Amino acid sequence: MKYYMPVRVYDEAQCVSKHKEEIASYGNKALIVTGRSSAEKCGALGDILSALKEYGKEYAVYNRIEENPSVETIMDASAYGIAEKADFVIGIGGGSPLDAAKAIAFMIHRNSDNPDDLYDASLPADALDVIAVPTTCGTGSEVTGVSVLTVHAKNTKISIPHKIFPKLALIDGKYLMSAPHSMIVNTAVDAFAHMSESYLSKKADVYSQSAALTGMKLWAEVKDVLAEEREADAEDYAKLMRASTFGGIAIAQTGTSIPHALSYILTYDQKIPHGKAAGYFLGRFIAFANEEDQKAILKAAGFASADELNAFLNKLFGEYTVPQETLQRAYDTVSANEVRMHGSRVDMDKEKLRAVVNL
Ligand SMILES: [Fe+2]
Repeated sequence: MKYYMPVRVYDEAQCVSKHKEEIASYGNKALIVTGRSSAEKCGALGDILSALKEYGKEYAVYNRIEENPSVETIMDASAYGIAEKADFVIGIGGGSPLDAAKAIAFMIHRNSDNPDDLYDASLPADALDVIAVPTTCGTGSEVTGVSVLTVHAKNTKISIPHKIFPKLALIDGKYLMSAPHSMIVNTAVDAFAHMSESYLSKKADVYSQSAALTGMKLWAEVKDVLAEEREADAEDYAKLMRASTFGGIAIAQTGTSIPHALSYILTYDQKIPHGKAAGYFLGRFIAFANEEDQKAILKAAGFASADELNAFLNKLFGEYTVPQETLQRAYDTVSANEVRMHGSRVDMDKEKLRAVVNL
C-alpha cells in the first residue's frame, strides 16, 4: 500500500488569521487566483490580504477564473502572474479557482506561454508553491494534486497529467456561510460522489476508504441541512467543509470513477453544475456495486437503501431531464474508455452503463 498526501492541513475556525505568518512565508509576491466575487463576499480574500499586508508581502489578484476554467484562462492568468513576477500562488474559492491555481503555478514556474505544456506528461510537475483556501464544500482540491480544465478543442473537461498538491490547505467553515443554498447542495453532492466513487475504486485501500467513510459519516450528520429541514449552524458548515476535505484525501489516492467521467459531458454540453451532474448518475452507479460495498456506503451515509439515496438526491435537485443527445455522448465517451469502465469494483459492462446513464 502507498499513501501520499503531502498537504499541511489547518482545519479550524479563523485558520487564515491564526496561520498568517506561515502563509506569508511562502514568497515575496502572491498571485491570488479567484472567481469574480465569492472570495471577496465570503471574507476569505480579505483575510488573506490582511495576512499578506501584515507581513509586508506584495500581491496581485487575478479574479477572472470562470466555472470549469479553460486552458485559455490558465494561459491568461499565467501571463499575468509572470508579468507580475509572482513567486507563489494562493487559490481561493471552489474547485475552479483551486484547480486553476495549480495549473497556473505550473505554467508560471515554467515561465511558459505554450499551452501544450499543460497536457505534456513528459514534463516535470514542478510548480510554484500553492496555498488553497476552499470556500465551497465539494472539490477537495485543497488536498489533491488534481487540476481539471476545460479543453474546448475536445469539447470536454480533462485532468492535466501533472500532480500538483498545494503546500497548505486552510479550511474554515465560516467561508461557507454566505454561499447560496444551491451551491452548498451542488458541492456537497460532489463531495459525496468523491467519497463513494473513491470507496468503490480498484485503487482504494484501507487508507483511502477510511477517509471516504469518515467523510460520509460527517456528511450524513448534515444531510438534513442539505434537505433544508433545519438551519445550518457554524458546526454544520465546519462538517460540510471537513467532509469535502476527506473526499479529497480519498480521491487523491484513487481518482474518481464513472459518475465523474459521465458528468464532464453534462457540464460541458448543458452547463449543469459539476456536483449536480455527478449526482445525476451516482445513485444508479452505487446500485450496481456489490452488496458489501453498497452496504458500507449506505450505512456510513445514513441511507437504508440505494432507492432511499436516489430519492434523497432527487429531492435535493428536483426532477429534471437531460437531453437525450447529451446522455448519448456521455455514454459513448465513457463506454469507449476501458480504463474508466473497469477502474472500479463495480462490475461494469455496456448494458449496465446504459442504465447508469439513464438512456
Ligand atoms: Fe468532483
